[in-house]
Amino acid sequence: MSGLSGIVKVVIFGATGQTGRLLTERADANGHQVTAFVRDPARMDLPSGSARVIQGDVLDSAAVDHAVAGQEAVLVALGTATRRGSQVLPQGIRYILDAMERHGVRRIVVLSAAGALRERAGSFIGSVGLGVARFFLPGVYREHRAMLEDLRTRNFDWIAVRPAILTNGPWTGRYRVVTEGIPRGGYRISRADIADFMIRQLTSDEFARKMPAIAN
Ligand SMILES: NC(=O)c1ccc[n+]([C@@H]2O[C@H](COP(=O)([O-])OP(=O)(O)OC[C@H]3O[C@@H](n4cnc5c(N)ncnc54)[C@H](OP(=O)(O)O)[C@@H]3O)[C@@H](O)[C@H]2O)c1
Repeated sequence: MSGLSGIVKVVIFGATGQTGRLLTERADANGHQVTAFVRDPARMDLPSGSARVIQGDVLDSAAVDHAVAGQEAVLVALGTATRRGSQVLPQGIRYILDAMERHGVRRIVVLSAAGALRERAGSFIGSVGLGVARFFLPGVYREHRAMLEDLRTRNFDWIAVRPAILTNGPWTGRYRVVTEGIPRGGYRISRADIADFMIRQLTSDEFARKMPAIAN
């Protein structure tokens, strides 16, 4: 489906974020040709420094188009809006997907959130945690849901990753993945493991057009 193997030309949206930094470092270390799309290049402090950096806001369609041109794949680890009424994920993903269409880019791996599909947690403690998160952060889940709904209707090789609570723990390489619901009793996953999983999806068709939920 993807036809991608070996070294991939990939642009990373949200590259200065907590997960985005790990994605950028790991993709770079794995030999991929990385472009980091960032609002503030001064915040990009990659050790190897081999990634190309493009400055821009994902809510600027021309900047997004420029970043997507010439790529083979897109990784998205964007945060949600902090202001009421603004919409980073739904608007940003629309600009990214439209640019992919224009430039013939097929593969996109996005970071979403477990619970975004109103799916059940699969355990009592998980349900309570998800209920609390949905109560206090309704806008976050709304943005994720809108992003996933748009993605679902598009004819790309998309993969939407739905992690449990993100931690700054170490890479373990041990995690459970399910395509329906949420792994039973899985409450958290490290950003390092998520970055590892997302980068693997650049060259794998196992979860193409699926929304895998992932937890330790
Ligand atoms: N925390 C959890 O437990 C949890 C669980 C499941 C899913 N998630 C989801 O995982 C995702 C990533 O989380 P994280 O902790 O890695 O996020 P984060 O550290 O807050 O990083 C968010 C990134 O998005 C960028 N960004 C935001 N608005 C932008 C815009 N308009 N244009 C360009 N870039 C923009 C930020 O850029 P700047 O550096 O310029 O601000 C930053 O690079 C989020 O969508 C979150 O909802 C989180």
